[in-house]
Amino acid sequence: MPATILIGTQWGDEGKGKATDLLAARSDFVVRYQGGNNAGHTVLAGGRLLKLHLIPSGILYPSVTPVIADGVVVDPKVLLEEMDALAERGIDPSRLALSGNAHLIMPYHLELDKVTERFLGKHKLGTTRRGIGPAYADKAARIGLRVQDLTDPKIFREKLDLVLKEKNLVLTRVYNRLPLDGDSIARDYLRYGERLGTHITDTGALLYGALRAGRRVLLEGAQGTLLDLDHGTYPFVTSSNPVAGGALTGSGLGPKEIDDVIGVTKAYVTRVGSGPFPTEDVSTAGRQMREKGREVGTTTGRSRRCGWFDAVLLRYAVRINGLTELFLTKLDVLSGLPQVRICAAYRAGGRRYEDMPPHQTLFHKAEAVYESLPGWQEELEDVRRFQDLPGAARAYVARIEELAGVPVRHVSIGPDREQTLEVGKVARHRRPA
Ligand code: IMP
Repeated sequence: MPATILIGTQWGDEGKGKATDLLAARSDFVVRYQGGNNAGHTVLAGGRLLKLHLIPSGILYPSVTPVIADGVVVDPKVLLEEMDALAERGIDPSRLALSGNAHLIMPYHLELDKVTERFLGKHKLGTTRRGIGPAYADKAARIGLRVQDLTDPKIFREKLDLVLKEKNLVLTRVYNRLPLDGDSIARDYLRYGERLGTHITDTGALLYGALRAGRRVLLEGAQGTLLDLDHGTYPFVTSSNPVAGGALTGSGLGPKEIDDVIGVTKAYVTRVGSGPFPTEDVSTAGRQMREKGREVGTTTGRSRRCGWFDAVLLRYAVRINGLTELFLTKLDVLSGLPQVRICAAYRAGGRRYEDMPPHQTLFHKAEAVYESLPGWQEELEDVRRFQDLPGAARAYVARIEELAGVPVRHVSIGPDREQTLEVGKVARHRRPA
């Protein structure tokens, strides 16, 4: 049985939680493969809203095994808090499988994330301050501590002492902060390790075996294509690889295990943090997207920047991820606008670009070339079949499909499960030239 990858096509916050929820119901394993608790979605658990940042939301289905795979960075304190919050709501977290190879977010990573952002001043990245970048930096520098180290107190302490010596020098001498205490870090982390011990396993082998046994595996990307460390809008990116290729390295599966790669794309674009955003709209339309779309970060509480749909970015996401289909979210948010706009190309440096410009300076200066389509005034939340959407809304979806060259298979028009429309044939899609 092949695995499916689900990935955001924009700068994160595309509404992946909704799509994952739908697909999780048909999956046996739901896997996080990168990032850490910088992600977040709100789920309804035990009749109450709960914010999950690290545990795949598939945990809400008793038949799903949630997996935190090798490529994730884990703050064990946050993980245990989420497990406790789930247990309090009557959801058993004991099925959670945690890779021993996943790296740990340590207290000095949190501290360094804060002080380096402050140091960058007006050039700051606007990180979530969860220690993500510093943890991945230590992984690449080969001085990271991993989940498996939690099960060996002697090794854990040796590694911690070695690395803390350098971290404390940086914190005290460069950033004028107080040093961190190794004894208290070791005490806390080894206690977390005792609680997490039964969850730690070889998740790569677990997933490989599951696929051989015909089980369905969903690999759930956090953040989005444009926040990818290699393929995103560097340096305004996260420090991991959300793209489809990252799903393989992050889970330990080979490329032939995958068939579908589903791109979740919002009917408009949002971005948190700094960086270029060619279709940003600060007028009435952008305000409507922010207010009606409740565009406030789950993790940081920050207001998201909003703008028109960008087909250049979508085509880029199709190419980078090898997308096989699209899941379009939040179409309902655009109801009431007199017209809707789609950015079909950029103009930069005296040239027109249908694809991502090859240099960051061009992207920073890119002006959107828009197509305007008629808007629709009807609210969409009660529509239950795609063909019952207003003609203008269907035309908007068809144009997105045409510009992407990949079929739109689902359209979401509200937060509830039944507010997802399955789409037959929308428009004849063409592969982009
Ligand atoms: P970091 O991942 O905390 O290092 O933040 C780096 C950049 O990625 C910042 O611009 C964040 O706002 C952005 N970012 C990280 N996680 C998410 C997410 O889940 N949604 C949207 N943006 C994110």
